[in-house]
Amino acid sequence: MLELKDLYFSVSGRNIIDGMSYTFEKGKFYSITGPNGSGKTTLAKLIMGINPVSSGSISFQGKEISSLSITERAREGIAYSFQQPARFKGITFRDLLSMAAGTDDEAMLLALLRRVGICSLSFLDNPVDAKLSGGEIKKIELATTIARNPKLAIYDEPDTGIDLWTIQPMVRLLKREQKEHGTTTVVVSHNRAFLEAADIVLMISEGKLVYKGDLKGALPMLNDLSVCNYRKCVGDKDVGCYR
Ligand SMILES: Nc1ncnc2c1ncn2[C@@H]1O[C@H](COP(=O)(O)OP(=O)(O)OP(=O)(O)O)[C@@H](O)[C@H]1O
Ligand SMILES: [Mg+2]
Repeated sequence: MLELKDLYFSVSGRNIIDGMSYTFEKGKFYSITGPNGSGKTTLAKLIMGINPVSSGSISFQGKEISSLSITERAREGIAYSFQQPARFKGITFRDLLSMAAGTDDEAMLLALLRRVGICSLSFLDNPVDAKLSGGEIKKIELATTIARNPKLAIYDEPDTGIDLWTIQPMVRLLKREQKEHGTTTVVVSHNRAFLEAADIVLMISEGKLVYKGDLKGALPMLNDLSVCNYRKCVGDKDVGCYR
């Protein structure tokens, strides 16, 4: 349903996304992992249209979308949940949820909150501003993504700052959305709980897709990749990195 073909995103001669090709299948759950700075958020932003493609193509349900705006891609059914959500002075969670769901009907908003589950009812009339905690704003961001009923939902590190008691409910929630609504789900995460929940694990290193498959097959590579990055960090060049 989402096809990336020979995708590049380059800045000042550096290929941040370095020739990526991959086809995401409808209704599957993908977890994307990889070291800090490897290009995960950049890839998510290319798909959503926040970053412009340098070359290559992105097609969604058979339609080339790489020249469409963010709004047009949202209308096609793509939603993106930011790694670092924006905060807005004077706008409440209720406002954001109503905009995402296309209704301000109280009963429908409450039903939506029950569906999402991880958000407390007391958030509803809180302004989405600097006073919210890091975890609260991530929950709100996730809820507004679900409220859009997207065909393709991309969550960029949804678990960052989330307490231990909410991680598993969050995994279960996204799996339920996948199963009950057929949502093609892409979660960028470093958390094993999301890797275990995935139908397919993708690993990115230095802007390239270096693994696609099940978690079992990814485990040796996860270890190797961390050693590789550690050694590179401490200046040891004698390392076989995945490129
Ligand atoms: N617009 C841009 N201009 C210049 N450099 C950029 C731009 N966007 C991203 N980068 C760089 O590209 C690299 C990949 O960034 P990205 O945010 O995609 O990493 P990531 O894999 O999501 O990392 P993390 O796990 O820390 O979230 C980083 O070195 C970042 O500084
Ligand atoms: Mg990131």
